[in-house]
Amino acid sequence: MVDGRMLPNESSGSRPLTCWVVLCLLALLSPPDRTSAEEALSPEASILGGEALTLIRDNCISCHGGRKTKSGLKLTTREDLLKGGDEGRVVAPGKADESRLLANLHPDAEVHMPPKGQFTPEQIATIRDWINLGVPWVESALKIESAFLASPSLSALPESYRPALALALSPDETKLAASHGNALLIYDLTTTPPLLTHTLVSHADAIQSIAWSKNGKILASGGFARIVIRHIPATNVIAEITENIEGRVTALTFSDDGHQLFSSSGFVTQPARIKVWDTSNYTLAAGWDAHEDVITALLFDAVKGQLFSTSIDRMVKCWNVKSFEFISKFEGHTDYVLALAVNAKGELLATGGSDNQLKIWDIATGEQNLLAIEGDALHLAPVNRANKIGITD
Ligand code: HEC
Repeated sequence: MVDGRMLPNESSGSRPLTCWVVLCLLALLSPPDRTSAEEALSPEASILGGEALTLIRDNCISCHGGRKTKSGLKLTTREDLLKGGDEGRVVAPGKADESRLLANLHPDAEVHMPPKGQFTPEQIATIRDWINLGVPWVESALKIESAFLASPSLSALPESYRPALALALSPDETKLAASHGNALLIYDLTTTPPLLTHTLVSHADAIQSIAWSKNGKILASGGFARIVIRHIPATNVIAEITENIEGRVTALTFSDDGHQLFSSSGFVTQPARIKVWDTSNYTLAAGWDAHEDVITALLFDAVKGQLFSTSIDRMVKCWNVKSFEFISKFEGHTDYVLALAVNAKGELLATGGSDNQLKIWDIATGEQNLLAIEGDALHLAPVNRANKIGITD
């Protein structure tokens, strides 16, 4: 996630350009969208498969995807779907009306899915048509989730799996760090076009999170059960955290004084922990269960010295970083919350999510203003002092 903190010395003129650069880099870094199996699908199967799997990604995977799955049913591969759950098969390809998975979606279903939500008749029709067409599998539609869910075994990443899951702009905005599969790329943004200056590999699996220290001298990257700390500009590794850390490190941020590094880690469908590392020796200083599911972003607000977290459990929470106590929560997103930013005065919080909503919260009162946007807000960064916000999706 982009470290969306408002920077004291920023000029309003430079930021839109930087955002544009970030957008272009995102486009450059995106992995190939379609697998060869997908290429073989008919246009109809490909469209329907994409729609159906997007619905499953957004509404079902949080409970039917991780290492522990509800009812033993996993929906992350076609094989797992066809295998079914503890009660047996849930889908008969080509025969939607004999498929329990479809029956579960109806408003009056005995075992109703998703448990807290109702598919519209159109969405139910999509799933029905998809099953009748033989459940064509469009892997790329599950992409956001597969990033979180990729197997924890640390064998080499497949060549085709090179997602750009994390991006972070250096505080002086001259460098962009981006993940590309297991590589950490650093771009020099002072040249046109931006110049790739480093390709650093010290993770076996995909890098999920990146953070710069406020002074721009330390760069942290997180992958599976591991955080790597580098010195900048030399880029040498000064510490590796591999103890006391479980699951994927999905978000990282430094305190403003650089004395603390905050990380979040966990497994899909499991409580996610925030951990605090003392940066004098990178040992664990504190840790607590913060959300019911994967944390997507962390942000340290220097003005009030508090930490914000967002999660696929739909919550945004605020924490005291001295006592590590819960301060408040911001409730209102109806789907994964993916990104956040705080304005320079520390009064307003912006959050974006898979529900296509960008919300601006008054931090003191918890009141929200809503802006609907198109697409998921994956990264948020304030663009200038007038509280404008740049979005990449
Ligand atoms: C909040 C967690 C959660 C979400 C989200 C969720 N499920 Fe489930 N699912 C469960 C639980 C718990 C069970 C077991 C329920 C039971 O046996 O009473 C279950 C069971 C099932 C079953 C087996 C039911 C049976 O009759 O054996 C199917 C099929 C299923 N879910 C499909 C889905 C689909 C499709 C979605 C998305 C539209 C979804 N689930 C979303 C928690 C969830």
